[in-house]
Amino acid sequence: MSSFGSYKARQFNLSGLKGISDQTLEMHFKLYEGYVKETNNLTGRITEFISDRKVDQEEMPAYSELTRRLGFEYNGMILHEYYFDNLKSGGGIGDPEKTSQFVKATETSFGNYDIWKADFVGIGKMRGVGWAICYQNPANGRISNHWITLHETGNVAGFIPILVMDVWEHAYLLDYKPAERPKYIEAFFSNIAWGTVEERLERNIGVRSARV
Ligand SMILES: [Fe+2]
Repeated sequence: MSSFGSYKARQFNLSGLKGISDQTLEMHFKLYEGYVKETNNLTGRITEFISDRKVDQEEMPAYSELTRRLGFEYNGMILHEYYFDNLKSGGGIGDPEKTSQFVKATETSFGNYDIWKADFVGIGKMRGVGWAICYQNPANGRISNHWITLHETGNVAGFIPILVMDVWEHAYLLDYKPAERPKYIEAFFSNIAWGTVEERLERNIGVRSARV
């Protein structure tokens, strides 16, 4: 049985963010590389298990554990790529342009941008380790915000990540105290690459039909 293929860690140039130090980013990129490595490692080990075209009963406990861990590592890899991609080197403009498709999407789904933001920021402040993610439902173009525990619990099947914010403590502990997560969230907003967010929406057919 052939391997499922392997992932290569991507390079990101995000120096000069506002309120998120280069030192934090360096550490964060290393953590991300760990997720890529572990995704490849687990995929390889699972491939070995199924190379004889069956999973024997005595193999089941180890196979199950590897497969559960794959959900954690795989989502950890992918979500970090979305997160780094929606940050802008040198910092951004704060809130998006009022004429943007994203602001229109918040009006359609939440009433207005400020209500959407209150929800997204509120989720970001939830206690626990995980992510705040704004997703789009490709079936109708509507957006909704979700809390993801760790990397793998709470993602909505088939929904498209539009804006992804890491709120694990490693994302901000070198720059802020543990209780200062709100300051990190403010810093995150001042660095959003709204152009990337816009592309994620525009790639999607659903939002076009929602505009009509
Ligand atoms: Fe992270």
